[in-house]
Amino acid sequence: MENKILEAKDLKSLDEVRVEIFGKKGLLTEQFAKLKDLPNEEKKDFAKNLNIQKATLNKLFEHKKEELYLKHLEESLKAEAVDVSMFSHLQSAGALHPVQQTMDKIIDYFVSLNFEVQEGPLIEDDFHNFQALNLPVYHPARDMQDTFYLENGLVMRTHTSPVQIRYMQKSQPPFRMICPGSVFRRDFDITHTPMFHQVEGLVVDKSGKISFANLKYILEDFLKYMFGDVEVRFRPSFFPFTEPSTEVDISCIFCEGRGCRVCSHTGWLEVLGSGMVDANVFEAVGYRDVGGYAFGIGVERFAMLIHKIPDLRSLFEGDIRLLEQFR
Ligand code: DAH
Repeated sequence: MENKILEAKDLKSLDEVRVEIFGKKGLLTEQFAKLKDLPNEEKKDFAKNLNIQKATLNKLFEHKKEELYLKHLEESLKAEAVDVSMFSHLQSAGALHPVQQTMDKIIDYFVSLNFEVQEGPLIEDDFHNFQALNLPVYHPARDMQDTFYLENGLVMRTHTSPVQIRYMQKSQPPFRMICPGSVFRRDFDITHTPMFHQVEGLVVDKSGKISFANLKYILEDFLKYMFGDVEVRFRPSFFPFTEPSTEVDISCIFCEGRGCRVCSHTGWLEVLGSGMVDANVFEAVGYRDVGGYAFGIGVERFAMLIHKIPDLRSLFEGDIRLLEQFR
């Protein structure tokens, strides 16, 4: 019986041994049952020995139980251990920045309509950034854009519109083009950062072949592609490089036009500027007898609306927790 206890490999088999020895039909009980058949003079010694044996087995059993319990504890601690210092080999998937994602979606739309994608320099001269766009030196409309001036009359481009000029200087209509890229202004608040992104669009054809109706159709279709089933509204406005000019609104995607804080209780969100290209702009690049329309899209504004991002500045703080949401 000792051996049975000593040989138990784990708590489960030890418990089986317990039943086998100490149980109601166990080996010890069997021994005690023999008592009644013994002659009286042998009974005393037999019982005494049996009780000593029982006590020894009990002790041995308790001892083994303790030993096996400790063994079990140690094994499960080892098996369940978490090595907090261990280097994780899990690859964390990267994500495109929400501004890039939004830009890509805008570009996809226009590329599908055969618009050519153009780029231009980030540092511009006064002619391309202002003068050729019908913003003469000393014109008060220059105040619309808080500019970073560099030396020698150069500026960090304040919009992507100068790429219109560069493109027209090297090509002949008809054409349709867009220019995505970063632009710079001396602004910094909840809806402005000193660097942000625009996508410029320009469509030019022979005069009489292109009208405000074309502009209206394309922009309405584009905004529905970006924002889903929204209403689109064209509001008269002013830009020096277009005449007539229009600011384009969509019905508020947060309150569906009922009026809320985001849309300043107007039910409308302003999303882009556009218009028919001003004759002075065509003249600056030597074009004659042409017509066209242009538009300028603020990419961050779109990204903020699409993803409900409350503070534009958070897009450029490099906080990985923002990016992780765009995997
Ligand atoms: N350049 C303008 C800006 O940055 C946006 C803009 C408005 C561009 C109307 C256009 C346009 O091409 O037609 O505020």
